Amino acid sequence: MSILPQSPRVLALANQKGGVGKTTTAINLGTALAAIGERVLVIDLDPQGNASTGLGIDRRDRDLSTYDVMTGECSLAETILDTDVPRLWVAPSTMDLLGVELEIAARPDRAHRLRNAISTLAQSRDETIPDFSYVLIDCPPSLNLLTINALSASHSILVPLQCEFFALEGLSQLLSTVEQVKAALNPELSIHGIVLTMFDSRNNLSSQVVADVRETMGDAVYETVIPRNVRVSEAPSYGKPALLYDLKCTGSQAYLRLASEIIQRERTLRGVAA
Ligand SMILES: Nc1ncnc2c1ncn2[C@@H]1O[C@H](COP(=O)(O)OP(=O)(O)O)[C@@H](O)[C@H]1O
Ligand SMILES: [Mg+2]
Repeated sequence: MSILPQSPRVLALANQKGGVGKTTTAINLGTALAAIGERVLVIDLDPQGNASTGLGIDRRDRDLSTYDVMTGECSLAETILDTDVPRLWVAPSTMDLLGVELEIAARPDRAHRLRNAISTLAQSRDETIPDFSYVLIDCPPSLNLLTINALSASHSILVPLQCEFFALEGLSQLLSTVEQVKAALNPELSIHGIVLTMFDSRNNLSSQVVADVRETMGDAVYETVIPRNVRVSEAPSYGKPALLYDLKCTGSQAYLRLASEIIQRERTLRGVAA
């Protein structure tokens, strides 16, 4: 029997390296999926809270956060806030999450707390809670207990890799963590794909990295490559996804293509005819 609900599909955005585009992808892929009709929840599992900020959630409005969910103070449903994007919601985080590892370390279900929270949400008959089709979990830049919780709660992992010289460094460690989680916690976990981010067409190194990563990781790499685009990096300071800030910019357009590719891949993974 499946340990994860069939719906929503839960994807963890994970890479223990910081600054590779996890949060930017959570915000903009979430927005792009919502734009093409999906009902999306972004769960902010990084104490930095940048996904929440980038989706326009003021720190003062984060009374209940993923910290409270992880410690069992409240349900996931209670934390969910609306965003300016139709069909996109967020469960925000706060700095309190920094301490959560110590607080839950002794609990036997410490690695399953997020999975249990998502299951409760999926089973809820409360009509005020949207019937999400996708949940995207923005992970912290570490392979800590928060990331383990995300992997244990997810159908698949989506790995952002920055187009830089050391792109593949650390990937084997991440993939071995995925194998460990699969063996011990969540047999359903699969690798959804690798998304290359911050591609700079004026830089030969970027093209070299794309070629290397495709050669090493083959079909796991999405066709869509996210370009480095100043509009994408400006948008969070306005509390907006790039797709709302400038829909026409190359970064927004790339995230729309990535969303279609992900939906396509989901259909293949689930054996549904495209
Ligand atoms: N496609 C892009 N173009 C330009 N800047 C980007 C792009 N993607 C991410 N960035 C910037 O790079 C930095 C790191 O991205 P972020 O998504 O926060 O990474 P992570 O969550 O993996 O730490 C941020 O300042 C972000 O605005
Ligand atoms: Mg981040």
